[in-house]
Amino acid sequence: MPLRFFFVLLLISFSVFSEPLVIKADALLDVHSGELKSKPMVFISQGRITRIAYQSDTELPADAEILDLSGQTLLPGLMDMHVHLNSDAKLHGYKRLAQSLPRKTLTGVSNARTTLQSGFTTVRNVGAPGYADIALRDAIAEGELSGPRIFAAGMSLGITGGHCDNNLLPYEYQDKAAAVADGPWQVREKVRMNVKYGADWIKFCATGGVLSKGTKVGAQQYSQEEMNALVAEAKLLGVGVAAHAHGLNGIKAAIRAGVTSVEHASFLDQEAIELALERGTYLSMDIYTTEYILGEGEKAGILQESLAKERLVGSKQRESFQNAVQAGVKMVFGSDAGVYPHGQNARQFSRMVKYGMTPLQAIQAGTIHSATMLGQREQLGSLDSGKLADIIAVPGNPLENITLLENVTWVIKEGVVAKHP
Ligand code: ARG
Repeated sequence: MPLRFFFVLLLISFSVFSEPLVIKADALLDVHSGELKSKPMVFISQGRITRIAYQSDTELPADAEILDLSGQTLLPGLMDMHVHLNSDAKLHGYKRLAQSLPRKTLTGVSNARTTLQSGFTTVRNVGAPGYADIALRDAIAEGELSGPRIFAAGMSLGITGGHCDNNLLPYEYQDKAAAVADGPWQVREKVRMNVKYGADWIKFCATGGVLSKGTKVGAQQYSQEEMNALVAEAKLLGVGVAAHAHGLNGIKAAIRAGVTSVEHASFLDQEAIELALERGTYLSMDIYTTEYILGEGEKAGILQESLAKERLVGSKQRESFQNAVQAGVKMVFGSDAGVYPHGQNARQFSRMVKYGMTPLQAIQAGTIHSATMLGQREQLGSLDSGKLADIIAVPGNPLENITLLENVTWVIKEGVVAKHP
């Protein structure tokens, strides 16, 4: 063998087998089984978990760096499948209109940092202006900024005047969201445009919304034909689809079109639940947001008509959540942070428990199920050897006290400590 190749091989085997970091802790949550495993030692190399051992007499490599997290329980990094990192929760309605795209881009930088600090190592960003989310994703991936790994949807598609358009200004301003598209071919063109500029997901609005002006939450937006075209195009290009939908008809049409996930999913009936079960559709239900909207929303500029809509949607959504959980529909954790302050994402876990999930189910929604939905089950979502070393720690047992997730003490992303006490 030529000497050069020999050295290359040697180098490769060193980087694969050397284990520079070992994390010791009191316990480790196996999110598959719910088992709390005692005295784990997690071996990390090159940003990945290389193995996990459980006995204290396991031999440590001489060159290992030991991180002693005594008193802590390790969990996989949390995953939020519905965030808007470029949105500021203090600015809603007409206040948001006054914020420039560069300002929104900058707010994304600090929101990304806050999100990671709160334990979320991966997020799906479902809608941002001007591809600010794509730039943020790439800057984080390139190590320029601190933040979660981002799966980004770019600009949301929607009908003229729909929830994903901008409806605050009168006609003479000719204001229109950049990914508004009407008709199957226009819809396909916007899907192609988003993918051209780097989107890994497509987000569209299948019904009206709470926070948009002049839209009805119960009204379906896009015909079945348009939704079918949208999803078919996304499938051709190999990207998943997230559909914003509160009302029943829009939810059902989106599921029938074959979307990957329905966001909000506020008004569910038996047929919608059965459709979701049949098609394997994920639900991403933001059941905490209502508390912020009704509590702080008015100060932040949320319109009176939106507050009125929220009073109808919030309680109905929690009822639907309960029914969907009982029926066994696939669920991910999606908070809609950006509507409420980034960094408070994890407050939703306790509401998911209050409305019918076991603590383990809520944690699975925010870890392994989200990883599976993203097509990242081999890389993310649990603490298993071979996966990326995204690890958080909390001081106690989260299965007994789910609110521990609201104040994580350690955050490690790809083997690098992002937060410590
Ligand atoms: N972005 C969503 C909308 O405007 C927020 C809905 C929040 N309310 C709720 N109950 N989940 O429609």
